[in-house]
Amino acid sequence: MKGTDIIAIEGMPRENVERILEVSATMQDYLDSGEVPGLLAGRIMASLFFEPSTRTQLSFTTAMQRLGGQVMGFSGTGGTSVKKGETLEDTIRMADCYADIIVERHPEPGSAARCAAVARKPVVSGGDGSNEHPTQALLDLFTIRQEKGLEGITVALCGDLKYGRTAHSLVRLLAMFGIDTILCSPQPLKMPADLVARVREACDASIRETGSLEETAAEADVLYVTRVQRERFESQQDYEAVAGSYVVDRALVESARPGMIVMHPLPRVDEIATEVDELPAARYFTQAANGIPVRMAILALLLGAA
Ligand code: NCD
Repeated sequence: MKGTDIIAIEGMPRENVERILEVSATMQDYLDSGEVPGLLAGRIMASLFFEPSTRTQLSFTTAMQRLGGQVMGFSGTGGTSVKKGETLEDTIRMADCYADIIVERHPEPGSAARCAAVARKPVVSGGDGSNEHPTQALLDLFTIRQEKGLEGITVALCGDLKYGRTAHSLVRLLAMFGIDTILCSPQPLKMPADLVARVREACDASIRETGSLEETAAEADVLYVTRVQRERFESQQDYEAVAGSYVVDRALVESARPGMIVMHPLPRVDEIATEVDELPAARYFTQAANGIPVRMAILALLLGAA
């Protein structure tokens, strides 16, 4: 995988996904033992976040530093020449001169491919608008495998499946591994029909759509909840019409299939009640912690150090 880009799950070979899962487990072992080898000493990662981020940005930075590498970049374009009208391509060209690998997030769908087209160094997308968020889906899959295994399970993606880029990437990964999937959303937030058709074509697993959160919880082994993506709506009114439509609370979790776990890419707003945090089903903070070994694996593989 040395020198390759990770800009989407679409088109990513399954063997690369398997390799990332395998190296992530090794990285987890290093972290658990307290002895992490300096595989990326002397390397520099550019971290270019044109859009807000907490977990993606901080976990990539931590991952790079844990492996002995260094990080430069920006969080928000306030202090950069983007404010003078510099194009995305030119900003990326500069990072390409200064760093060994580029991690970027930008609000426009398709921006990750534009970055990869001009950079010689590996580009890793931290999300391109409502399109995809491949590294989040990889850490989600790593978490699902760790918690439930990947055989004979049903995973439900719930909430904003129209704009939620993590769900757009994860549905492709679930299809790649033949995992039965339930897509549960209010009507206006359904996953785009062309995407559903593409993933259905790509696998033998069942992919069902429903609007009922209760029925979904009764059938799923993993309930993957997402935030309504307020920033992607055309109007505040459209957002308000669907905001708060699904809330996972204690009663729902207690009525669910025994052993069901609740995941969420975070940040949550009000779609998971805080009372769920103390239940054994809650896995979203473990999931976020898994961002470190998985992103360590990605950086090491793309830089040829694993
Ligand atoms: C997600 C994102 O940015 O798409 N956050 C993340 O990276 N964990 C989810 C979201 O913002 O709702």
